[in-house]
Amino acid sequence: MAPAIQAENLVKTFGDVRALDGVSLDVPEGTVLGLLGPNGAGKTTTVRVLTTLLRPDSGRAVVAGVDVLKHPNQVRSLIGLSGQYAAVDEYLTGFENLQMVGELYQMTARAAKARALELLEWFNLTEAKDRTAKTYSGGMRRRLDLAAALVVRPPVMFLDEPTTGLDPRNRLALWEVIETLVEQGTTLLLTTQYLEEADRLAHDIAVVDHGRVIARGTADQLKAQIGGERIEVVVHRADLVADAVATLSGYALGEPAVERNTRRITVPVSGGARVLADVIRDLDARSIEIDDIGLRRPTLDDVFLTLTGHVAEAADEENGTDATGRGRGGRGTGGTAGDESGPDQDKQAVAAGTEL
Ligand SMILES: Nc1ncnc2c1ncn2[C@@H]1O[C@H](COP(=O)(O)OP(=O)(O)OP(=O)(O)O)[C@@H](O)[C@H]1O
Ligand SMILES: [Mg+2]
Repeated sequence: MAPAIQAENLVKTFGDVRALDGVSLDVPEGTVLGLLGPNGAGKTTTVRVLTTLLRPDSGRAVVAGVDVLKHPNQVRSLIGLSGQYAAVDEYLTGFENLQMVGELYQMTARAAKARALELLEWFNLTEAKDRTAKTYSGGMRRRLDLAAALVVRPPVMFLDEPTTGLDPRNRLALWEVIETLVEQGTTLLLTTQYLEEADRLAHDIAVVDHGRVIARGTADQLKAQIGGERIEVVVHRADLVADAVATLSGYALGEPAVERNTRRITVPVSGGARVLADVIRDLDARSIEIDDIGLRRPTLDDVFLTLTGHVAEAADEENGTDATGRGRGGRGTGGTAGDESGPDQDKQAVAAGTEL
């Protein structure tokens, strides 16, 4: 069976930034692909190409059996999209926003209304349904935006960082909604900065960096690929970090990862408990005081760190900077060279079937 989403060698440049440098992907029907990658890796650009909002410089894409570049309008009728920036109409109520999407997709007024109410319930928005969206909190807007993507039960869905900015309860609720959709046969491409989210929801994971897919596999395959166990040490004071790194390097199979603000050092090792005991003795002999130490199996975080050289950072929705204060897409562009519409217009464009 042909994959529900297929991309071949997509290239997209913005000025001298190569946002996509030959991305190839395929997502079998009824499965979830998690697209993981650091800020500026090219996740959103990939989603925008696959959802017809952006023309690549070269490459090919097929969604639900339809060529994205040749028949964008047909593709739009087969997909749902929820973007990284919630695209809701501020001056309509939650209910009206959803009803409008249904009507844009030519549902009858009665069907659009029933679907809107059902989705408001799913996303815990029933109480707020008659308030204008401009009074909604960030997490409420995000949920409304996700609900809007589900109005027409599309066979293929694209969710760009769906749970960024949601509190734990709503994140869990959304995971359940997504799992239900997938059980019902929806094919999903999901981008996320949350590795546990990819671990839980995705059948397959593609790690993207610098516009390329640098690793591909199930969560277990990726963990096995980077191998080894991890020793994790938290030293008692910041001035002990350097000494501890030097000590641990003697046991490490690869580069130690250091989180300075939490004084946590993680190193890949092999040899299990015996090595752990040696490390504890060694640290003690050098009077390096520790708060915590443990041995564990690699996580997706380790995969990400090993492959991209840095930890995953959730983008801050409000001001477009991540936790390190780098601008969004900080790979040397001011982000102004764009010849394309902004993401806010994306959803309306998809719904209205307009060409960009
Ligand atoms: N319209 C545009 N104009 C100019 N540069 C752009 C535009 N869209 C994306 N870029 C650049 O392309 C690169 C990839 O951006 P993209 O938004 O795809 O990253 P991302 O993986 O979604 O990152 P994030 O995790 O921050 O959402 C970045 O360097 C970004 O600055
Ligand atoms: Mg993005």
